[in-house]
Amino acid sequence: MRTVHSIAELRTQVAAWRRAGERVALVPTMGNLHRGHLHLVERARERAPRTVASIFVNPAQFGPNEDYAGYPRTLDDDARQLAAAGLDLLFAPSVAEMYPRPLEQMTQVTVPELSGILCGASRPIHFRGVATVVGKLFNMAQPDVALFGEKDWQQLVIIRRLAADLDFPIEIVGVPTVREADGLALSSRNGYLTTEERAIAPALYATLVASAERLRAGEPDYARLATEAKARLAAAGFRPDYVEIRRAHDLQIPTAADTDLRILAAAWLGRARLIDNLAV
Ligand code: PAF
Repeated sequence: MRTVHSIAELRTQVAAWRRAGERVALVPTMGNLHRGHLHLVERARERAPRTVASIFVNPAQFGPNEDYAGYPRTLDDDARQLAAAGLDLLFAPSVAEMYPRPLEQMTQVTVPELSGILCGASRPIHFRGVATVVGKLFNMAQPDVALFGEKDWQQLVIIRRLAADLDFPIEIVGVPTVREADGLALSSRNGYLTTEERAIAPALYATLVASAERLRAGEPDYARLATEAKARLAAAGFRPDYVEIRRAHDLQIPTAADTDLRILAAAWLGRARLIDNLAV
């Protein structure tokens, strides 16, 4: 595996593969990799002979009081894991390479309608930062296919909309969430949990499973179900942000006729803000 830090090196390598007629898959990450990320690389290798991953802790997607400074940066260990997973190219740019001018002076990408709801309601700049960096990575790497974890379902929906609206000729693939044996979705932020919090954390998944079962059984009152799920989370020790039942493909409030639903939740546990979601 080769590691490059500049956009020019990334472009040169990808262009050489393209000249040779090889498809390229991209897995964007912020590093501090876990099995979920390596699973994305495995799926990427099934879809293209050449795989690129990026590691960039993107300042544009962190609010002023969020964990940008403390976000774990483990590049050497991440690179070892990616090499062992069979990745071809790791792109690990600096902030200056990605944002050569102050962020507030740079063009940024907003995906309306989807960015201010759910996680966007409490993280107002987050999805603008995600859409901006993902758009830049798409232009830099020009992949045929890009893979994202379904744990960040709202992010996946926003990236699909970004690709459609800006005409990126890139297939966007969502990869099912990888979980611990007790159901907890793998996340870099699980590392923030204390031993006591880690024991409580699977209650988020368990609450979603129980709510999804009631929905499947025909529970018609989505608002009551969400309120009860939040109460269950609070009783387990979380500070719930939201539990919502939404249309899976566009995150809008479902009507009685909608059948393709997703139940999504975010809740704080100590200093970790955990998110999860399930198809219904
Ligand atoms: O999901 C993530 O790790 C990040 O939001 C992403 C897509 C790499 C953009 O920084």
